Amino acid sequence: MKIQNKEYRTIWFEDNMVKIIDQTKLPHQFIIKDLRTVKDAVNAIKIMEVRGAPLIGGTAAYGIALAAQENNDPEFIKKSAEELIQSRPTAINLKWAVDRMLNKLSSVKNDEVLNIALKEAKEICDEDEKFCESIGINGLEIIEKIYNNKKDTVNILTHCNAGWLATINWGTATSPIYHAHKKGIPVHVWVDETRPRNQGANLTSYELNEENIPNTIIADNTGGILMQRGDVDMCIVGTDRTLSNGDVCNKIGTYLKALAAHDNNVPFYVALPSSTIDWEIKEGKDIPIEERNSEELSHVEGMDENNEIKKVLIYPKKSKAMNLAFDVTPAKYVTGLITEKGICEASSDALKKMFK
Ligand code: MRU
Repeated sequence: MKIQNKEYRTIWFEDNMVKIIDQTKLPHQFIIKDLRTVKDAVNAIKIMEVRGAPLIGGTAAYGIALAAQENNDPEFIKKSAEELIQSRPTAINLKWAVDRMLNKLSSVKNDEVLNIALKEAKEICDEDEKFCESIGINGLEIIEKIYNNKKDTVNILTHCNAGWLATINWGTATSPIYHAHKKGIPVHVWVDETRPRNQGANLTSYELNEENIPNTIIADNTGGILMQRGDVDMCIVGTDRTLSNGDVCNKIGTYLKALAAHDNNVPFYVALPSSTIDWEIKEGKDIPIEERNSEELSHVEGMDENNEIKKVLIYPKKSKAMNLAFDVTPAKYVTGLITEKGICEASSDALKKMFK
């Protein structure tokens, strides 16, 4: 998608380096960063220079290629794979991508490891782009149906950033929105700010602006009253881990939006590529929920009147804070899953039928 009218993907390989858009600097600065070693890739995932389940999967895949470039000894690659998997705990795409890379490299001769690793990492990214495009084509049907009934702007609420910046391109939750916009359907997006890291305000609103899609940032607690007023036609969110029973784990606060949507009969869709499905864990309570540094809550970063980026403390110095990064929305609150293969019910039968 576009930034200042130029097409980008979120990650690519060039001059023996992995290039990423540093998402900790958006929306105020657009900086392309080089990752030269697997440690750089691990760090980029940990400090969230790259984030969003599909993109951290893509970065981990390229991380394995960087490891092979540094040292193609299988032991080094194995140790690097473990570090990549541990860099963030919740999104299953990380392990999925690393396992796929290791599997591909398992019977490859030493002098071919780098080439095959680079090819497979690119394949993982190309596939994600293709899947996200299909999610868009499939999800477009839902938006179109609402528009045909309403004959007026379709108001869509989204949480966090499940946009193209969270994937390789298109996004998951945003892909149907981009497709609707391209087709000339009038859409407007309510963007949850998404405290504490503000991925909605900093990333979703930014990328929608770059594509000229009307959007309004709202405080995270505003969605409920908008739904009661009839100002939300549908919600679409992403997911970091989808269980085979249809439960979805996504950015903290998603569950509360799903409850509000349920209470107000607003359709609540979750968009995902199949790389986000965890076929092993059976219950939401067993998903590892990332707990991040409480400084992400107590401090806020922004631009001052001299265009300088500043970080300030907003809490009482003595206060304790807790920063759980994800929550689980039970399948019963999910109207449907929008996948690359089509739209299905959030249930084990429907998921099995579609993917197994
Ligand atoms: O902590 P983040 O910014 O990595 O969280 C991202 C999300 O919660 C997204 O909704 C999810 O990864 C799906 S991205 C298509």
